[in-house]
Amino acid sequence: MKAQRARRTELSAWRALAEHASEIGGLHLRSLFTEDPERGERLSLEAAGLYLDYAKNRITDRTLRLLVQLAEASDLRAHIDAMFRGAKINVTEQRAVLHVALRAPRSASIRVDGRDVVPGVHAVLDRMAAFAERVRSGDWTGYTGRHIRNVVNIGIGGSDLGPAMACEALAHYSDRDLAFRFVSNVDGTDFAEATRGLDPAETLFVVCSKTFTTLETLTNARTARTWCLAALEDDAAVAKHFVAVSTNAAEVSRFGIDTANMFEFWDWVGGRFSVDSAIGLALMIAIGPSRFREMLAGFYAMDEHFRSAPFERNMPVLLGLLGIWYTDFLGARTHAVLPYDQYLRRFPAYLQQLEMESNGKSVDRAGQRVDYATAPVVWGQPGTNGQHAFFQLIHQGTQLVPCDFIGCCESLNPLGPHHDLLMANLFAQTQALAFGRLASELRAEGVPDTQVPHRTFPGNHPSNTILLPRLTPEALGALVALYEHKVFVQGAIWNINSFDQWGVELGKILAQRIAPELSSEAAPEPPHDSSTNALIQRFRRHRSGR
Ligand code: F6P
Repeated sequence: MKAQRARRTELSAWRALAEHASEIGGLHLRSLFTEDPERGERLSLEAAGLYLDYAKNRITDRTLRLLVQLAEASDLRAHIDAMFRGAKINVTEQRAVLHVALRAPRSASIRVDGRDVVPGVHAVLDRMAAFAERVRSGDWTGYTGRHIRNVVNIGIGGSDLGPAMACEALAHYSDRDLAFRFVSNVDGTDFAEATRGLDPAETLFVVCSKTFTTLETLTNARTARTWCLAALEDDAAVAKHFVAVSTNAAEVSRFGIDTANMFEFWDWVGGRFSVDSAIGLALMIAIGPSRFREMLAGFYAMDEHFRSAPFERNMPVLLGLLGIWYTDFLGARTHAVLPYDQYLRRFPAYLQQLEMESNGKSVDRAGQRVDYATAPVVWGQPGTNGQHAFFQLIHQGTQLVPCDFIGCCESLNPLGPHHDLLMANLFAQTQALAFGRLASELRAEGVPDTQVPHRTFPGNHPSNTILLPRLTPEALGALVALYEHKVFVQGAIWNINSFDQWGVELGKILAQRIAPELSSEAAPEPPHDSSTNALIQRFRRHRSGR
């Protein structure tokens, strides 16, 4: 990979895109479709079983050519090759970035510091599979000999959002005799509600933490141990009711979990890229090892497509470039992800961490402040619910909100007309956003003049539509990998390190400092700014007055 080159905004492709944006800024999707009746088929692509329609974007063929030129000028190909060969592209932490190794076949070989990591990946997968089968079959029992009926995942961020999203997404394939719950927040309510009604003798805790030092997770894990031992009354019960997933064996055993009950992963797996590592243990217990491996096959199929397809026919590259087009050249500040599938309810929250923690950066790899926008705010809710809440703003508000619609051709719960109505709404929304409704059309329909401005839809709102044949483990794997690689593409082009997250550290340090100051024994005047002091004092007064 070449050393740092010209700043991104000085690249000729960047400048050409800026000029091009001002030339075609006013071009409407209506005219783009009128001029090119084949546009719908032409601007579409299939990869790893997913279909992407990107025709309803405010782009011409020249836009795409320039975006691909920008990718080339940013050395995207070299970045991709560097990731796949295990180079230490996480420059601030001097780590390789190898979530792709988590789904590499047994026959593959990927080296980090001269050592092939693939055998270790499969050894852990095999251990996970053996354990998951024991829990599912009832062979692994609780301390009193009762079957495990509840699995509670304790973790936060990537150690929660991935498994929680995937367990819900693949609930159709889950063993329904087992209940799965997720505790992430340090707010005790999360633990209290997640364990309400559960019998400790039938409950297994999977404590997930890459570092095993995260305050929220360790606090919840300690509370879980107390909750468990209050009922089972013997420290020996911990070995039957707690397993850990971590890179940090020393901290796991310091916590009191036998490392024989620990499933390992590695520092070259970022937390937000870890759902297909041992962090997915709860998911594997839910859907079984063979379905988990089908999911890995879906990830791998998208990896292979990403690694080998030319940029102009490469799904993650196209999604990444389109995002850059809107963020850096058309001024979009947010990006909506709208799954039209109830099982994908948690997918937008999962993507929030994946995209915003990865690319919410304002200095480049060399530490220079960037002079262009990076990650937009990612948000969304499942359709059709969002239509009755925030779609008004997307249709008629003042902001440009590019959208990704995600739907499945086949429902896992075919109930009467539901699925056709759901998908009709998805298609209709992309159509309404793109083409709008003209004032002249309203007048022709007899709408009174005073109402015309209120009922006009400007259209020209861009969207991608991603269609899955059916929500299978394989399709979910491909979908997650698609977004992982989209994030990678954007980070490479923005020349930022997508794999660190220093921005979350300051709050952690300050919270550790403030926590003891909330106690009544602390110094009367806290040592902070007047606002923080007043808040602390008010909290203390309220607490002591209870
Ligand atoms: O604080 C942010 C973060 O480090 C995320 O990147 C990570 O997914 C989460 O905390 C949890 O970290 P861990 O898995 O080490 O507990």
